[in-house]
Amino acid sequence: MDRIFSGVQPTGDLHLGNYLGALRNWVRLQHDYDCLYCVVDLHAVTVWQDPTVLSANTREVTAGLIAAGLDPAANIIFNQSQVPQHAELAWIFNCVARLGWLNRMTQFKEKAGKNRENASVGLYAYPNLMAADILLYKATHVPVGEDQKQHLELARDIAAKFNNDYGTELFPQPEPLILGAAARVMSLRDGSAKMSKSDPSENSRINMTDDADTIARKLRKAKTDPDALPSGVAGLEGRGEAANLLGIFAALSDAPLADVVAEQGGRQFSEFKETLTELAVSVLAPIGEEMARLMADPGYLDGVLADGAGRAGAIAAPILDEVFDVMGILRPVALR
Ligand code: TRP
Repeated sequence: MDRIFSGVQPTGDLHLGNYLGALRNWVRLQHDYDCLYCVVDLHAVTVWQDPTVLSANTREVTAGLIAAGLDPAANIIFNQSQVPQHAELAWIFNCVARLGWLNRMTQFKEKAGKNRENASVGLYAYPNLMAADILLYKATHVPVGEDQKQHLELARDIAAKFNNDYGTELFPQPEPLILGAAARVMSLRDGSAKMSKSDPSENSRINMTDDADTIARKLRKAKTDPDALPSGVAGLEGRGEAANLLGIFAALSDAPLADVVAEQGGRQFSEFKETLTELAVSVLAPIGEEMARLMADPGYLDGVLADGAGRAGAIAAPILDEVFDVMGILRPVALR
């Protein structure tokens, strides 16, 4: 069976954008592929993390994955640092990837900002660790958003160069899985900015832990324009807020955007927002409640991560052994 690997950072504040853009798609893939979903704590620490916040967020994201519908028995759910082979293979890839390749990574340039000299070496090498995540399991498919496509390309380049350098076919070329066009959720305060946990306005996003009242309040406050909703998709041109709210409605109800626009067209925003609130609450409130229930039981969450790490490690260890073998790195069996 084809194997999927994907990662999510333990940054806390999972929101509707994460749910519709990533988690929900993962849930849909879980029975058709052999899936590993990894909470990437080693990636998180490429920028400083408050230790208590990092552990809380690792559990929160784990709770989010399960509450969204991922079955921890059918999938492998774990945190990256518990499988030490990720860091080991990342080191090997530090020696395979070229400086020139990493210098082209746009996310590093954005994250490092003007003060590049002061960025961590880890932030620079971040894509090599991501390549290690994927290739450590010989994953064939990687569900990624637009912002991670360049990193996946780099993973493919690393796989090809490793195979070429050592005359092997050890690593497959992992393919991107781009899912659902309606996955791009924008800020509720600005239809041209992506919904993001770093937006200072809480009202810009719906968090997966928001209760029904909070969801209703945020949608009531969501930015609109003075006109009624258009009756065709062409009428969404230049109307970012209308496009975003209708897009969210389409995604939450699993209907094509054109159908939703045809159905809701002509209504006032105020009326439409009530229908949208009802739908959003019916989908999200149960997930938020389940997250709260799971987060109250850290022992259970730690157990899921430990179990997942054990199963992930059992796949990873022999693959890393193969890597060391082809490289001529000695690993006396007794020490493995
Ligand atoms: N870099 C990804 C992000 O920030 C997370 C990630 C880490 C990942 N390792 C991965 C995604 C491997 C896909 C595959 O979203």
